[in-house]
Amino acid sequence: MPTSHGAPLILDGQATAEQIREELRELNRLRLQSGQRPPHLTAVLVGNDGGSETYVAHKIKACASVGFGSEIVRLDSSVTQKELMEVVHRLNQDPGIDGYIVQLPLPSHLDATEVNLAILPTKDVDGFHPVNLGRMALGLPCYKPATPSGILELIHRNHIDIRGMHAVVLGRSPIVGSPLAQMLSRNTTPGNCTVTLCHSRTVDLKEHCRRADLLVAALGQPGFVTADMVRPGAVVIDVGTTRVEDPSKRSGYALRGDVCFEEVAPLCRAITPVPGGVGPMTIASLLQNTWQAANPT
Ligand code: GUN
Repeated sequence: MPTSHGAPLILDGQATAEQIREELRELNRLRLQSGQRPPHLTAVLVGNDGGSETYVAHKIKACASVGFGSEIVRLDSSVTQKELMEVVHRLNQDPGIDGYIVQLPLPSHLDATEVNLAILPTKDVDGFHPVNLGRMALGLPCYKPATPSGILELIHRNHIDIRGMHAVVLGRSPIVGSPLAQMLSRNTTPGNCTVTLCHSRTVDLKEHCRRADLLVAALGQPGFVTADMVRPGAVVIDVGTTRVEDPSKRSGYALRGDVCFEEVAPLCRAITPVPGGVGPMTIASLLQNTWQAANPT
């Protein structure tokens, strides 16, 4: 089996996210010095899905670590659409809240699209509202979705030049795959890739993957990408964070990425670990968006 030359660069999302947090701490220090209050992020959490609880806890902890204000609005899983919409309208009107997110997924009786459409675009720090997605498509200032944005920051801050690369994105979700494909193809730095977006109906998916200089797996299928799908010397980004049972862990579960790390890493020029790769970068990007919300230009 062919291998790439030298050990792969492990793209440390934790360390890169800490760089971003340090920058935000300093910006916030100057903001407070000028007499302004800290930026404030609110997270709406419906029900008690274990994954969502963990993600929101990380977001709140990250806010505290840079000195931003934050709070969780907890709603019972039996909340009605009308009650949830009332919360959204209240958050839109509250001048003390710069940005907010409604953690997904919502229980199945709730309409996430109606909620998304009602979020004030200037407070939509997730970047999921059509105004922000549309502005992004046109290259206008906007809130960019946190995961794609974090991936580009991770690549950029680790000095990987992706200009001209063939990027293959696995997964077309509106939160990750679709916006990332768009961002990679734009005439920006980082950017200027030639992009192939693969999904569940793609024919010869392995062949597409093998042609990738930059391969991004965002499918939510643990271990999907195996060594035979990766070109030696490729940069591999793993967005997957599926919880799998693991009795050896105190929590009873482990996070598994979409990439079979052990067999793929030796082939790569650079690769993200799970956990500690894309996850911390997503949260760092959310903090950047929250800063932007509190400091409009
Ligand atoms: N669920 C999984 N990822 C996200 C995210 O980035 N934002 C929100 N609101 N929910 C999510």
